[in-house]
Amino acid sequence: MSSNQRQLHLGLFLFGTGYHPAGWRLPEGKTDGAYDPQFLKEVAQKLEKAKFDFFFLGDRLATSADMQYLFPSQMTRLEPFTMLSYLAAATDKIGLIGTVNTTYAEPYNIARFTASLDHLSRGRASWNVVTGSDTRAALNFSREKHWDNAKRYDYAEEFIETVSGLWDTWEDDALPRDKASGVFADGSKVHELNHVGEHFSVAGPLNIQRPIQGQLPLITAGTSLRSQMLAAKYSDMVFTGTNVKEVAVTFYKEVKGRLREYGRKDSDLKVLPGLVPIVGRTEEEARAKYAELNELVVTDYDLGPLSDKIGIDLRGYSLDDPLPDVSASETALQWADLARAANGREDITVRDLFYFFTVTVRGHLLVVGSAQQVADIIEEWFRDEAADGFNVCPPYMPGGLDLFLELVVPELQRRGLFRTEYEGSTFREHLGLSRPRNRFERIVKG
Ligand SMILES: Cc1cc2nc3c(=O)[nH]c(=O)nc-3n(C[C@H](O)[C@H](O)[C@H](O)COP(=O)(O)O)c2cc1C
Repeated sequence: MSSNQRQLHLGLFLFGTGYHPAGWRLPEGKTDGAYDPQFLKEVAQKLEKAKFDFFFLGDRLATSADMQYLFPSQMTRLEPFTMLSYLAAATDKIGLIGTVNTTYAEPYNIARFTASLDHLSRGRASWNVVTGSDTRAALNFSREKHWDNAKRYDYAEEFIETVSGLWDTWEDDALPRDKASGVFADGSKVHELNHVGEHFSVAGPLNIQRPIQGQLPLITAGTSLRSQMLAAKYSDMVFTGTNVKEVAVTFYKEVKGRLREYGRKDSDLKVLPGLVPIVGRTEEEARAKYAELNELVVTDYDLGPLSDKIGIDLRGYSLDDPLPDVSASETALQWADLARAANGREDITVRDLFYFFTVTVRGHLLVVGSAQQVADIIEEWFRDEAADGFNVCPPYMPGGLDLFLELVVPELQRRGLFRTEYEGSTFREHLGLSRPRNRFERIVKG
């Protein structure tokens, strides 16, 4: 494998009971995966053995019992930085990404959480900056309303600048801890930040020395224009979600195209769509697993939301009717093609389309097939610049992950697309990023 060749980046997007809403109902499905520390530790260790780039935890600041039908894994789970601190002690190489919702946080606190995790993991921490997709969070933080997109992103931008500044308030050699001279800290190398902006006023310094990585890799995961601009200005990696390659190629081009405005180059930002691999030892085994999972979905089979989405009214059909002609709608044609590909046959029913819609509601790329078939799609998206890698969302746990690691990863390695060894030890190194110089050092030393 040539190390100059562009390489895939792979990470786990943890859904404790699997991405598929019925993953937990399979006979072999883990039902309490979000809470079992031994299980989570084993998952992280397996990923590291497979040389994955990262273990990623999403987060929401609100929940309700009705999320159990479509989003059981997001309805109830542990606080990300607490869990990642535990995983840091059980691993050596893998990047650890925690989600931070800036809308309901203070920069000084977040600078402390992230810097602490970076020290505990010896340079493997990263943060996924979101501004909050769940509007109900406002009610948990003494507010009446979730802010609009513009305000959330203005706030996020100043938030990132402040946290990043706080990480630099200690120069790398600010703590000589010299027993002979009695100099524990060199005061000339500990700086105040004195940030005064529209939203924050933060004096600094942080009460934690500079993170091992200097600056932690930053991830963003939005789709709006403001989110793309935030990604272009600050992110090292952007998470997205789509089933359609052309949509992914357009997003990839657009977001990378914006980098130049900020003096950055294409390779400075990695684009990672979500991938839901339903892998079998044979294609038939994978299709059978997809069907088994779908039959376990708890649903009232309301065809309304699907009809609204595709622009064709299916409400009068019975579930086992063959899918009628949907050519009047471009979207419906696209969805029907995706459902045919997932089922591996042309003659799909209304039920097949309903299931496909229901289980891919978050929009990530669902691929059903043998290891070769899944690797083919990964390679195609990678080579056609729809993706620099994938945020892997196993449909059920742990079997859905195990099959991907056992069968697909070696296939990608055989094709020279994915590393067989880690080249570095920090998350920045896995992403090919150098360690940035401290901004205060630049000012003081020129
Ligand atoms: C892979 C992925 C992971 C995401 N994880 C979270 C999350 O953990 N918490 C959250 O509030 N939003 C999450 N989001 C939502 C985005 O941050 C964003 O709010 C959403 O895509 C809407 O885009 P916008 O904020 O640009 O309008 C995620 C999105 C993607 C694609």
